[in-house]
Amino acid sequence: MLNQLKQKAIKEIEQAKDLKNLEGIYRNYFGRQGELTNVLRSLKDLPAKERKEKGKLANQLKQDLEEAIKAKSKKFSVKGGQDKEWIDVTVPGILPSEGHLHPISLVQQQLEEIFQSMGFSVVDGPEIENEYYNFDALNIPKNHPARDLWDTFWLKDISLLLRTHTSPMQARYMEKHKPPLRIIVPGRCFRHEATDASHDVQFYQVEGLMVGQNVSLTNFKGVIEEFLKRFFGSGVKMRLRPSHFPFTEPSFEVDILKTQKAKGKTQNWLEIMGAGMVHPNVFKAVGYTPDKWQGFAFGVGLDRLAMLKYQIDDIRLFYSGDLRFLKQF
Ligand code: FA5
Repeated sequence: MLNQLKQKAIKEIEQAKDLKNLEGIYRNYFGRQGELTNVLRSLKDLPAKERKEKGKLANQLKQDLEEAIKAKSKKFSVKGGQDKEWIDVTVPGILPSEGHLHPISLVQQQLEEIFQSMGFSVVDGPEIENEYYNFDALNIPKNHPARDLWDTFWLKDISLLLRTHTSPMQARYMEKHKPPLRIIVPGRCFRHEATDASHDVQFYQVEGLMVGQNVSLTNFKGVIEEFLKRFFGSGVKMRLRPSHFPFTEPSFEVDILKTQKAKGKTQNWLEIMGAGMVHPNVFKAVGYTPDKWQGFAFGVGLDRLAMLKYQIDDIRLFYSGDLRFLKQF
């Protein structure tokens, strides 16, 4: 008789469709008038010997059924996912994953804040440029060898290109605004060149331009040193190297010291920007009188700033879309 009961119960448990169904089955066997409860209750009326034997079997059956019900109920739990109404309030919640800013955006924000506090306005410019603003207005005429400094992605229309630097915005802005002025122009640039740990085919620059009647190289040094100190902290070491750009005279490049080993003499500099005093021909191209106005301009690589700040040794990681990398910011 107990055997029959067992077979019937196991079959019902196996066929249970959901948790509610299973709870009903449990009540049918273990409830106050449950089939198994009645069997257990009737044991006391049996003769001692029989009670012992049957008691043992009935208790075993009770255990088996409880286990079978427990096992089945797990299938309906959250993980099993079959019963939509099942809620276990003790299961720890799953936090929705929150997005965050890309390291380049973080660096851009911080740079903008620092320059804004020094009176610079933030200006935006087009990524698709024409030859005039990317080159001619910047004192780089056609067939001038300096054009080779920037390996250019040309669009099908031959006079359009992806800007190779943010400098075209110097001319665009000055054409429309009267001096004195102070602007920065963050934006994406493109170059058709081989990539390596510090060069990519796309990267971010911020152009800076300050024009006034007495703006000098000393002002440039002061502004850049102030920026670098606030961006990297007071321990930052920079150096100015003489360089050449057709649109500035004199021209410089600025490097930041990455690592320094005191006596073993390992010094490791990373170039972060090109800069200089605005060339008179650029002023002429935008309609300013060169004798009256002076200014400095610079183009700093945002990727390079981020590399130094977060100690990243390969620029290509920024554009890899690798979440293991991005989640660290
Ligand atoms: C220029 O692009 C000039 N327009 C900068 C300038 C502006 C000079 C105003 C004078 C006045 P250059 O090619 O050196 O210069 O690039 C400037 C900075 O952009 C570099 O120091 C570097 O930080 C960044 N940069 C240039 N090419 C790449 C590249 N392929 N990948 C990542 N960063 C780059």
